[in-house]
Amino acid sequence: MAPAIAKPGLAPDAPKGHAAPVTDIVPNDTAASGAGGLPARAAALDLLTAALSGRTGLDEGLSHPALAALDVRDRAFARALVMATLRHLGAIDSALQARVKKAPPDRVVQILRLGVAQIFVLKTPPHAAVATSVDLTAQGSTAPLKGLVNAVLRGLVREPPDLADPDLLAPSWLYARWRAAFGPEAAHAIAAVIAAEPMTDLSLRDDLLAETLASELEAEILAGGSLRTARRGDLATWPGFAEGGWWVQDASAAVPARLLAVTHGETALDLCAAPGGKTLQLAAAGAQVVALDRSAPRLRRVTENLARTGLTAEVVAADAATWPDKRRFDAILLDAPCSSTGTFRRHPDVLWAAKPSDVAGLAAVQSKLLDAAARRLKPGGRLVYCVCSLEPEEGEGQVAAFLSRTPGVVIDPIDAGEGGSPPPSRNPDGTLRILPHHLPGGTDGFYIARFKSPA
Ligand SMILES: C[S@@+](CC[C@H](N)C(=O)[O-])C[C@H]1O[C@@H](n2cnc3c(N)ncnc32)[C@H](O)[C@@H]1O
Repeated sequence: MAPAIAKPGLAPDAPKGHAAPVTDIVPNDTAASGAGGLPARAAALDLLTAALSGRTGLDEGLSHPALAALDVRDRAFARALVMATLRHLGAIDSALQARVKKAPPDRVVQILRLGVAQIFVLKTPPHAAVATSVDLTAQGSTAPLKGLVNAVLRGLVREPPDLADPDLLAPSWLYARWRAAFGPEAAHAIAAVIAAEPMTDLSLRDDLLAETLASELEAEILAGGSLRTARRGDLATWPGFAEGGWWVQDASAAVPARLLAVTHGETALDLCAAPGGKTLQLAAAGAQVVALDRSAPRLRRVTENLARTGLTAEVVAADAATWPDKRRFDAILLDAPCSSTGTFRRHPDVLWAAKPSDVAGLAAVQSKLLDAAARRLKPGGRLVYCVCSLEPEEGEGQVAAFLSRTPGVVIDPIDAGEGGSPPPSRNPDGTLRILPHHLPGGTDGFYIARFKSPA
């Protein structure tokens, strides 16, 4: 089965969603009840196929018209099913490989994956999961393989697989890289986070409201001031959303902007700004912010987020490497495009869409953007570079090369725990390597370095 489930290419600008207005967390009780008939499963099949093809990211897929056409219950089921499948994909494929000797067509592979996720992750009654999987297979050219789907799923019901083994959850090439970079224990701990459904982290416009909002949202206040809540459902109905009191931002993603420690009236440049989580933090801290991104569609999210929160920034659509503006800034944030492998908790598709060659290509872009950022610093200015990637070439390697070719710029060491960073994430050189298991309940993986230019 392995060759048929070899993974396709990385979508350009793989999903980020740090400031997404809608949670991807959906109620599992809907799924466990066995809700959702064939249309919900057919939509899940389309979404899973698209997410794994690299044609579209999961974010785009989740707002696809095929899902919008379903009723609320079916939509919740379809979304929960795709997320459950992607979060357990490595282990599901292992279980299937043991039972399917000759690789079936891709559509059947996806139906089998969804069937296994229904039975063993969502706890959908097996008879409903098997019957609907067979019915889906019966549609179109895969009809002759109905018997295979029936036999494989029934066989797994008789001998249930272990879908929770962390050693099976990540693609083997990525898992090998994590073992080499962080050691076997850390790699195992990172992989164990893949199957877990994340809670939702929020950044606040005004930290003075933390206690009030935490109580209204039944949230925990994390070090650094982010709120973490287990609430589910439509974010737009949550207390404080309409008033612009908060935005969704993973606890790790909120650390880099805090490390710039901008003060009122300082100038700040957010060089890869969309969808805008870090821009909002800088603006909320009182800086005069330029939010630049080369993607005009993604910048619309920045503008919407600014409008909702009542914060202001100058929004610029341009390539950061060639932007002709001559201004220099007190503080610059470069949240560079990257392989996004640290964001697998909300975007498990990145694990399966990424491929080894992407890392080198993205590292070249990051080098160019780091040089462009350094050129725009005022004397004595601060630069924070970050990537939501677990790959050393995009983090430690990038920074070593930058320092060696940039005279005068030095690392400004980050203290353990500074900006709400998990203390174990501090590297000896004062940069941060935040790993997904560094916070109880998980967090996005990030690499963060802070530099200062000569005065
Ligand atoms: C990691 S995301 C930024 C997330 C954002 N900082 C936040 O916190 O919401 C990377 C962004 O870099 C942008 N980007 C990629 N290449 C760029 C370039 N050459 N110039 C400017 N923006 C670029 C992408 O459009 C994408 O929005």
